[in-house]
Amino acid sequence: MGGLADELRRTIAHHGPITVAAYMEAVLTHPQHGVYASRDPFGAGGDFITAPEISQMFGELIGLWCAVVWQAMGGPDPVALVELGPGRGTLIADALRATRGEVPFRGAARLHLVETSRRLRDRQREALVQADLERPPAWHDTLDEVPDDAVLVVANEFFDALPVRQFQQTAQGWRERLIDIDDEGGFGFVLAPSAAAQTLVPASLQMSAPDSVFEVSPSAISIAHTLGKRLAQRGGAALIVDYGHIESATGDTLQALRRHRFHDPLDEPGAADITAHVDFAALGRAAIEGGAVVHGPVLQGSFLESLGIAARATALLAGATHEQSREVATAHRRLVDPAEMGTLFKVMAVTSPGMPPPPGFA
Ligand SMILES: C[S@@+](CC[C@H](N)C(=O)[O-])C[C@H]1O[C@@H](n2cnc3c(N)ncnc32)[C@H](O)[C@@H]1O
Repeated sequence: MGGLADELRRTIAHHGPITVAAYMEAVLTHPQHGVYASRDPFGAGGDFITAPEISQMFGELIGLWCAVVWQAMGGPDPVALVELGPGRGTLIADALRATRGEVPFRGAARLHLVETSRRLRDRQREALVQADLERPPAWHDTLDEVPDDAVLVVANEFFDALPVRQFQQTAQGWRERLIDIDDEGGFGFVLAPSAAAQTLVPASLQMSAPDSVFEVSPSAISIAHTLGKRLAQRGGAALIVDYGHIESATGDTLQALRRHRFHDPLDEPGAADITAHVDFAALGRAAIEGGAVVHGPVLQGSFLESLGIAARATALLAGATHEQSREVATAHRRLVDPAEMGTLFKVMAVTSPGMPPPPGFA
């Protein structure tokens, strides 16, 4: 082990066991060794693939969703078009291409990308070269830095990359799971010596069976609350797509993927992407507390079907080679099939009060 593992071992040796959230944050965003800072984890040569990397149809349909919702907002000019965690920039580039003909929307939109990885910011800049933007995009480390205009926010597989804390049910109540150095010098889970604050676990899950694990993402909840407040005060909508559960539930969902295969999350930190399922109910509660209205979540498959992915696939087939036709059909199936991404991934919209349900949530 080297690099990040040594750094984490030193931290634990000096300060004691660390939270799962601190470990996850280091693995993903450490400025030298973090997954997003040190390499490109996307696509066939990386660790995982996301919906916009599977097909241009995903970003195109989301672009058109934004243009329609902007009209329902009354066409504010300017409107901040924000993507949280844009990865390679594929989704936003496809969204902008699909809305080229929506001249008033494109004239009003100011693009803001919230991205912590400098390496990925460069990839996003390259992806946007062809986007024909009237003004250059702005990059930010956090949503708070985006100017206070009406806003349209897109977040695909952003919230699953935010650190979670884990709590385990014991005879003495809920205890936080921490990460310590084991006898062989590797990393292992231990439990905090004292009980965690009861309020961290929802009342409905307080009596869960022994050893049940409950996960909370404080940063995800804080961002959802900021988003809710922002939408309530300035007007707008957000579209959140991710894998996770509709209701808060117990379960250890921490997982690592290395070259598209499951990997022990505690083995070789920094060598594999690490995520946790999104608790949509918790995000929704935080956004509502901020003053916004929540629509859904709905299943990704039915959301994309209602936005017209079948018609978009048919349009792409016109003039396609046999190989291209096969690729479009495969991508369509991967995005909507219940056995693939269709039901594991959920879509939730958050809007300012008084807006009609956005497309896909009628
Ligand atoms: C799983 S990738 C998703 C990429 C892209 N949305 C897609 O669908 O392909 C997560 C993205 O969020 C970014 N990210 C992770 N944590 C972040 C944070 N705390 N603030 C801003 N961006 C973050 C990563 O650098 C990466 O761009």
